[in-house]
Formats: sequence, structure tokens, C-alpha cells
Amino acid sequence: MKTLDIAAPKKQEYLYQMKSNTEQPLFDTLECIKKELESNPENLEKYLQILRLASVGEMMGELGHTFNNILGGILGYSQLLKEHLPEGSDALRQAEVIEKASRRASRLVSQMQFFTQKQTGQKRIVDPKQIVTEIRSILESGFNKNIKIITQCNHDSARLSVDLAAIYQTLLNICRNCKNAMPEGGELTIRTKLKGQFVTFEISDTGIGINSNDLPHIFEPFFSKKESGFASGMGLAIAKAIVKDHQGEIVAESEVGKGTVLRVFLPVVPPSGKPITATERQDTFTKADGELIMVVDDEEDLCEMAKRILEKRGFKVVTAGSGETAIEVFENHADEIKLVILDMILPDGDGTKVYKKIKELSPNSKIILTSGYIHNAPFQELIDSNKEKFLPKPWDLPELIQEAERVLGAT
Ligand SMILES: Nc1ncnc2c1ncn2[C@@H]1O[C@H](COP(=O)(O)OP(=O)(O)O)[C@@H](O)[C@H]1O
Ligand SMILES: [Mg+2]
Repeated sequence: MKTLDIAAPKKQEYLYQMKSNTEQPLFDTLECIKKELESNPENLEKYLQILRLASVGEMMGELGHTFNNILGGILGYSQLLKEHLPEGSDALRQAEVIEKASRRASRLVSQMQFFTQKQTGQKRIVDPKQIVTEIRSILESGFNKNIKIITQCNHDSARLSVDLAAIYQTLLNICRNCKNAMPEGGELTIRTKLKGQFVTFEISDTGIGINSNDLPHIFEPFFSKKESGFASGMGLAIAKAIVKDHQGEIVAESEVGKGTVLRVFLPVVPPSGKPITATERQDTFTKADGELIMVVDDEEDLCEMAKRILEKRGFKVVTAGSGETAIEVFENHADEIKLVILDMILPDGDGTKVYKKIKELSPNSKIILTSGYIHNAPFQELIDSNKEKFLPKPWDLPELIQEAERVLGAT
């Protein structure tokens, strides 16, 4: 297969130029869809199929909220359980499997939500190696054994600031195309390389390849050579929009009969945006000094779980199962409660009411907003304004504690 050194200086310059034109990548994709439908009305059938899938996706977005609550219980309780189990025991390993499975499920939920809903675009600092490990584990459980998966990350750690669900979706879409291109089996290789200011995810297959007429079109919406009812021709169009949204670039190279390489470039984060280390995290855990936290959530199990884990770290906790109870408790203990962890969807109305009341009673009170439903919600404005920390559900317990510590530490 022809190889091309994408990271040669000229290419790098090109990548920097791309930055200025990437303000509204998803919008550009939509514009492109509109033009495509005007000039090729035969694509309407495909478009209608996409809309049908979208309505399923929309329902998925709503179900996602309930799902995240269920997963929150599984994830949190498996984490709690682990603390009681002896190091090296079978039971501990089994609890870890449950924890890992529920994390995966929760990620799948957010990936599915991505298709139809407005993303919050919350970016996290991650090491690309972590992304590759995770993708590999998802592929191993989803792909036939006749596809050999090879991963290589032979470089120092780097940090990326990414919307994880979106990047997983991008890489998985690319890998799924590779799989489709190898019906008889073959090799799928994922490599990461660190080149200057970019990390490259290089994904290659040994499949049927793409001919030179098709190659320039594969990122266009609706471009698909597949017969399957699920093929929409949108996989790579969305992948491109996501990558551009991360100020990156995506390029393809292929030879018929030999295979295809897709390279996703993402800019690294400068060293100042350091992620917190495990030891620092542990130190943060032990800092609590009996501060009182109120947890407001109508899911009794989740309240109980948060209470246990926070108390274990040295906090005191009161819980409230409804907005009305929360306001009542706060009215009586406004001086003692140092932090409120507030679920934004409560049986007696949305959390905004409780939020406003708490701020009215005590304007400087600290609040972490939380919800499994973060799209087009009535409290969206509150999150977007960045006034309060938002913690998506299901809670990752170490993250919950870390956030509680961080908010309480910041005066
Ligand atoms: N790894 C690959 N090998 C061969 N062809 C590919 C590969 N990746 C993408 N393609 C081609 O590009 C087209 C567009 O891909 P995509 O946007 O994901 O849409 P879809 O998978 O729904 O067809 C595919 O139909 C296929 O013809
Ligand atoms: Mg595809």
C-alpha cells in the first residue's frame, strides 16, 4: 500500500490552516445535506430512513435518563462493594467486572444520545492510550474472531482534551467501516503516534479498499456503497464534523484489494492542563473535615450510595428525596450545609426551583448540579452559564468525591 507521511511539515501547516475554518463543522454538514437533497432528490429515501432512525434515537435519549439512574446504582454499588472485598480475591475481580460492564453500558448510552441530542460538549483530559484500550475492549466484544485486532501506542504519554463519547463514536464508526470491508476476516490495526502538536490515531484494515473515484467522496453525507438498511452514508460525515469540532483533521488513503488507512489528528493539550494523579486524588479524598453535604435525589438508592461513600471520606450527609423536602431541610440547616448535590429532575418539578430557593436563602451556597438527562432540559441555561459545576449521571464515585472536595476547597 502506498504510504504517505502525513505529518510532513507541509501537511502540518495545512492542519493549522484548517483551524480557522472549523467554527461550525456540524452546521456545515447540515448545509451540505441540504444542497445534496436539492441536487439529488433520489437521496430523499435515504434521508427519510435517517429520520426514522432519528426518532428511535430521540426515544433512546429519553430512555437514557432512566437508564443512567439504573446504571448509577449498579456502578456505585459495585464500587462500594469492592471496598469490602479482600485484595486479590475472586469476589473482588467479579465486582470489578460488574463495574467495568456498567461503565461500558453508560458510555454506550451517551454515545447513543449523541446521535440525536445536543451535546454539552464537556471535554475531558485523557491520554490517547486510554482511548485505544477502551476501543479495543469494545471491538473485542463486538467483532467476529476472524478479525485480528492489533493496537500499538509506542510513545510517551500525551494529553488530549476531548468529548469522550464523541471521539469514541468517531473511532468506532471508522472501525466499523473497516470491519465491513473485511467480510472474510483480516487485520484491523489501531496505532497512535505523537507528531509535534498532534496525536494521530491511525486505523488501518486489510480489506477491499476504496477506488480512486470514490475516495474523495467518502466524507460526504449520504455517500455509501453499502446495501444494508443501516448504512446511511453518515458515519464518516459525522466523524469528520466531530474531529473538526476538536480542531483536528481526518484523512483517508486506500488501495483497492489491499486495504484502507484513516488517520485522525487531534491537537494535544499544552502541559499546563495537567490531569490529577492517583496520589493527588487519594490526598483529596482524605481532606474532608466533617462538612455537611445535602444530597437531593428522588432515587433512594442513589442518595444512600452517595451518603455512604461521602461519609466514608469524612463528610456528614443529609439526603432529600424531593424538592420540597430539600427546601425544608435547607431552611432549617442553611448555615451548616456547605454543599448541595442537586438532581435536576425531581418528582415535584425540575431542580431549578430548588436551586433558586437555595440561592435566595443563602446566595453563596455551593451547589453541584447533576442529572442523567442533559439535553434540551429546562435547566440547560443554568449549565451553559457555567455558574455551577455539572456532574453527569451515572456518578463515578471517585469523581463525585473529587468534585465535592474541589467545590468545597474553592472559596
Ligand atoms: N475502511 C473502509 N474500507 C472500504 N470502504 C470504506 C471504508 N471506510 C469507508 N468506506 C466507504 O465509504 C463509504 C461511506 O462510509 P460511511 O460514511 O461510514 O457510511 P456507511 O458506512 O453508512 O456506508 C462506505 O459506504 C464505503 O464505501
Ligand atoms: Mg460507516
